Formats: sequence, structure tokens, C-alpha cells
Amino acid sequence: MPSESEVRAALSQVRYPGFTRDIVSFGLVKGVEVQGSRVKVLISVATRDPAVPRQIHEQAQAAIAALPGVGEVQLDFDIKEPPQAPQSSADTLPKSSIPGVKRIIAVASGKGGVGKSTVASNLAVALAQSGARVGLCDCDLYGPSMALMFGATHRPMQNERQEIVPVERHGVKLISMGLLLDDDAPVIVRGPVATRYTQQFLRQCAWGDLDYLVLDLPPGTGDIALTIVQTVAVDGAVIVTTPQEVALIDARKAVTMFQKVHVPVFGIVENMSYFLCPSDGQRYAIFGEGGGEAEAKRLGVPLLAQLPIEMAVRAGGDAGVPITLQEGGQSQVAQAFKAVAAHLRKVSPA
Ligand SMILES: Nc1ncnc2c1ncn2[C@@H]1O[C@H](COP(=O)(O)OP(=O)(O)O)[C@@H](O)[C@H]1O
Ligand SMILES: [Mg+2]
Repeated sequence: MPSESEVRAALSQVRYPGFTRDIVSFGLVKGVEVQGSRVKVLISVATRDPAVPRQIHEQAQAAIAALPGVGEVQLDFDIKEPPQAPQSSADTLPKSSIPGVKRIIAVASGKGGVGKSTVASNLAVALAQSGARVGLCDCDLYGPSMALMFGATHRPMQNERQEIVPVERHGVKLISMGLLLDDDAPVIVRGPVATRYTQQFLRQCAWGDLDYLVLDLPPGTGDIALTIVQTVAVDGAVIVTTPQEVALIDARKAVTMFQKVHVPVFGIVENMSYFLCPSDGQRYAIFGEGGGEAEAKRLGVPLLAQLPIEMAVRAGGDAGVPITLQEGGQSQVAQAFKAVAAHLRKVSPA
């Protein structure tokens, strides 16, 4: 007979769709009962997306069933409406511009882990290198990876006007929303609440005068990403994907989301397109080939770049120095980011 803690441990393997965090640490598991070989679990979610409970159900079912001694598994869901975003209809929403900020560019991906934050950080640096005044906001509440990628992990300060002061790094003004939240606050509470206020939040930052504000959106096309693009006057979006079909399917969803809220898609950045092996000079298409290009054609948007998998990209991210700043900006990847920045400045001049 499995113990309650074994069941909870199994459930902590189940991620909330679109997030790296699991349903236990999100506080969604409201009850676990074990009677003999029978396991009963109550899970509470706040979403309008029916795919969320479905995916959690599938994964939780499999995780519990895999425990030794488990017979019947009963999963009950308590599905609540998330707190309303400022309004429901995208068309009628007054989108908020941010005082002093000329252009807002969202970097999005359907799937996590495809390199969205890597692209957002390097794009911000490349825009700054081209002479623009640039801000970068990591809107992912739960994984402030941007702070690590910029080597700026301390909490931002407030000024005397109670504005949040960005950290300035590599010529870019950076704010990671995840760094502003108390780790002890229950995520399910602070998540929707914080999201609802993203628009006000972005306005309450002391950005100063910016030509471009780059938003690193949370992964996925769920409530959080949608609320942001519904309420902030985003000028356009850059979609990051790998050539892999699972990533492309999600990238397509992201494009659809932007189309629904009438935000133009500036183009697709295909990341991890290939690996150039230093020992044999061969290109290896690790995640497949041609996917980004085909998708861009299908959607009628430019393929802005195809970036190789490179050790220096990962190492630069981990060390807080984006690749665009390394090797005097001469690397192939740095050049690619500069070209994307130049393109964005052309299609969306500040
Ligand atoms: N082209 C690349 N080559 C090597 N590593 C990469 C590349 N792009 C991203 N990475 C690494 O992959 C991991 C995930 O990237 P990240 O930008 O955090 O993805 P996301 O924001 O989409 O979750 C990071 O460790 C990052 O350094
Ligand atoms: Mg990220």
C-alpha cells in the first residue's frame, strides 16, 4: 500500500502545463487519500483552458499508477475560473502604452526550453549595441532565468516615487518580475494576481526613456502570456522555436495567439537549428531540419535567423554574459543577433 507522501512525491513529478514548476509546489494538490490500493487525489486549478486539467490528469494518473501497490486511481478536479484579466475581449481592450517607451517587442515561444530567454537577452544586447536605448523585462514569474543570463540576481530597488528601478547591465535596463515576488507567497495566488497587474507593473518601473522594451514572455500561450499581450501595447512579436515538430506546433499556437489580439509577428527565430561539430566540421541537424523555414513560409512571416547549438551560447547564458558580447561580437551567433536587431529597427523604427 503506497503512503500519502509517496503519492505526493509522485505528483511532484507532474509539471503544470507551460511551466517548469510542478503541481505540488504550485499548491494545487488539495488532498491525498490512500485506502488500501486505492488512491484518491483532489487537484484544484484556476484556468479557462480545458487542456490544462486534461494534461495534469494524464500525467498525474500515470505518475501514481507507476507506484508499487497502487490499484485504482481517482483524480478529482476542482476547476475555478481564473480572476478576470482587466477585460475579456481582446478587441475592445484599451492597450496600455508605457510612458517613455517607444516600442515594445515581445519574445515568445509556445514551448519552454527552446531558447526564448537566450534570444530575448541577446536581442536586447544587440539592439543596445546598435545604439538604441533598451529595456528588458523577464515576465516569467516562476523562473527568472534572465537574471542569471545577465548576472543580475539581486532584487531591484524602489526609488522615492515607489517605482521599481531596473538593474543596468550590458547597456540594457533589466527587470525580472520573478525577482520581485516573495518566494514564500503561494504561487497560485500570486500568479493570476501578478499577471493581472503586469500592465500596471510595467508602467511602475522607472524605465526612463527607451527606444525598445523587450518582453521575455512566459512560455506557452496560457493565461499569463495572453493577458500580457492583451493589455500591453506590444508593437510586434518574435517567435522562438526549434526545428522540432513539437516545438513548431506550439510556435504555431503562439502565432495564432498574436494574430487573435492583432499583434504583428515580426518573424521566427529558429534556435538549435544544427550543431557544427568542431572535430569533423559536419553539420548535424539534431532537432531536424527546415521546420522553422517551412513554418515561416506557411505563416508568411520572415525567418529572422537560424542559430546553431553552440557551447558558448549556453556558457554565456550561465555566466551572465550573452554570446553577443563575447569574442568582440564576431561570432556567427552574435552576427545573427545583430542582423535580427537591424531588421527589427527597420520594421519597427523607434
Ligand atoms: N543555440 C544554443 N546553443 C546552446 N545552448 C543554448 C542555445 N539556446 C539556448 N541554449 C541553452 O538552453 C537552455 C534553455 O534556454 P532558455 O533560453 O533558457 O530557454 P527558454 O527561455 O525558452 O526556456 C539554456 O541553458 C540556454 O543557455
Ligand atoms: Mg526562459
